[in-house]
Amino acid sequence: MSRRYSRITGTGSYLPERRVSNEELVAELAQRDIETSDEWIAGRTGIRARHIAAPDELSSDMAVHAARAAMQAAGCAAGDIDLLIVATSTPDMVFPSTATIVQRKLGIAGCPAFDVQAVCCGFIYAISVADAMLAAGSAQRALVIGAEVFSRILDWNDRSTCVLFGDGAGAVVLEAGEVPGILACDLHADGRYTDILCVPGHVNRGQVMGEPLLRMDGQAVFKLAVQVLDKAARAVLDKAGLGDGDIDWLIPHQANLRIMQSTARRLHLPMEKVIITVHEHGNTSAASVPLALDTGIRNGQIKPGQRLLLEGVGGGFTWGAVLLNL
Ligand code: ACO
Repeated sequence: MSRRYSRITGTGSYLPERRVSNEELVAELAQRDIETSDEWIAGRTGIRARHIAAPDELSSDMAVHAARAAMQAAGCAAGDIDLLIVATSTPDMVFPSTATIVQRKLGIAGCPAFDVQAVCCGFIYAISVADAMLAAGSAQRALVIGAEVFSRILDWNDRSTCVLFGDGAGAVVLEAGEVPGILACDLHADGRYTDILCVPGHVNRGQVMGEPLLRMDGQAVFKLAVQVLDKAARAVLDKAGLGDGDIDWLIPHQANLRIMQSTARRLHLPMEKVIITVHEHGNTSAASVPLALDTGIRNGQIKPGQRLLLEGVGGGFTWGAVLLNL
């Protein structure tokens, strides 16, 4: 019997209506005597704007918009989906999972639906899990979504983090077949680094304990991110028996332009082969890779048949990469 593979057949994304430029954010923060500048934000990170969800907009709402666009691109209906995975660290509720809420909003009942929590590496984890399930014959057509409202877990008085993140969602339809789409996946985590990037709060007997706002040691995250992204990229290329020159597009987690430049340099890739959306989206955590992928496809940069290297890194510490033919 021939091997089963999974392949992306459609992508979609969604950004909240409200776009906040650095200038607007700088003015807003200045009203509370928090000093920052477009020069600092853009110079250190490449970020020039981000989108912020409306007060009543949830991760599941954004996920549904992105999912509908992905299904339309794939030419399938919600009823054709038999596996639904949502990567998010900003779920609608403690439980049930955001995936089951998305499932209800899409009007599809019965197929397995669950969340994956690997922070900014969440989509890489989710698509790897979906690929394994499709390859094993557990499902035929999966919806894999990254959706986040990080604006709700930011400390808006902490200038070293609140300027970095944005809200949004991205989705792909992944279908099983005999044509190889996903060629290799590589996932890792190291729980010793919990403290450098976390939201240290939880619910206890109806009370919020600790402080459920994002805390990050930016420099420590930066150093680790550069190292592990290079290793993950090398690992998927090795598994597929390919080299640096075989990549058409690098689609990295969009956290910081300098991290992306460093990763590209180590892979001997010119920046012209890197999809960059961080300037417009900020860091949208688990949504960033599928958002960048959909943006690159819809603006005509990424073409059918090209080879893509997707990679992510996030709190946990988690990291990984996926190599695929589109
Ligand atoms: N505006 C102006 N000044 C600021 C701001 C701001 N918004 N934020 C911090 N500063 C100041 C600091 O107070 C410090 O001042 P000091 O030297 O007087 O003490 C100075 O700028 C330098 O601060 P650093 O933190 O050392 O700045 P750095 O060059 O490291 O850049 C940054 C910070 C952009 C956060 C960087 O470290 C980074 O990008 N780290 C990686 C983040 C990342 O990739 N996260 C991905 C995973 S995210 C996830 O999983 C949720």
